[in-house]
This record gives sequence, C-alpha cells and structure tokens, in this order.
Amino acid sequence: MHRVLVIHGPNLNLLGKRETDIYGTLTLEEINTAVRAKGLEYGMQVETYQSNHEGDIVEKIHAAEGDAEVIIVNPGAFTHYSIAIRDAMASVQVPSIEVHLSNIYAREELRHKSVTAPAAVGQISGFGVGSYLAALTAADHILKLAKGTWRP
Ligand code: DQA
Repeated sequence: MHRVLVIHGPNLNLLGKRETDIYGTLTLEEINTAVRAKGLEYGMQVETYQSNHEGDIVEKIHAAEGDAEVIIVNPGAFTHYSIAIRDAMASVQVPSIEVHLSNIYAREELRHKSVTAPAAVGQISGFGVGSYLAALTAADHILKLAKGTWRP
C-alpha cells in the first residue's frame, strides 16, 4: 500500500458548521471517510491529520519524511501567509499537493495569493470534497510517474 498523508489546517475541524455556503455541509470526518475510501481504490493507505497550529503542521510535514510518499495539504488561512509551512513543504523529499475546498481566486483578494503553493507540485482549488479526491488522482499520477509505471 502506498502511504499518503492528508493535512487539514486551521478551522477545518469546524467543517459542516462553518460558512456552509462556501465550504459545504460535509463534516471533516465525512470528508476524511470519503478520502480514505477513494484512497483504497488507488491502493493507498491515507492518514488524515488536522491542526489549528502552524508549528504542529510544520512538525507533521517533517515527520512525513521517510513515512508518507505524498502529502495532500489544505493549509487553510496559513496558505496566505505561512512561510514556515511553505519552507517545511520544500524541506522534505515528499511531494505535496495543495488543495482548497473553495476557489481561492474567486474570493476576497486576501485569498488570491498562496505563499505555500510554490512548494507544492500543484494546486487544486474550488471543488469542495472533490478537490481532495482529485488530489488523490494526482497523487496516483505522481507515484506512477516516479515508478515509471504510468501508461496513457
Ligand atoms: C480554504 C481557503 C482559505 O482561504 C481559508 O482560510 C480556509 C479554507 C479552502 O479550503 O477553501 O480556511 O483553504
């Protein structure tokens, strides 16, 4: 089984209650269940983690080295200002994929810039839980490319 780590940043523990017009009504646990199930279809064992604390997220990314093969990360508001999380992503050999439930480019200007995305392989934004599911497809692609087993 491939090991994939999904990290959810601040306030995402409140999904289902928080600004449901923007983020939808699924709870974080419902999203995690969907992500784990889809991961199994790709032969991935998905670990999920949520923290409201920048340093904890930094340490979780460090700990992924030698453990996870891909990181899927929704840094929440840290997306827009955490150089520490960006540096952590850049400091490990594990490739990361940045996801957002909402389309950050269609929202307030303060959300238009992601300081973390340049340290990711790529970013998926705006598809709700589908952003995480699409990230699993992208992770599968990354793994197959790395192994040389990708076929059209
Ligand atoms: C978010 C977008 C961020 O701007 C916001 O601070 C979040 C959630 C998203 O998933 O759409 O907390 O990362």
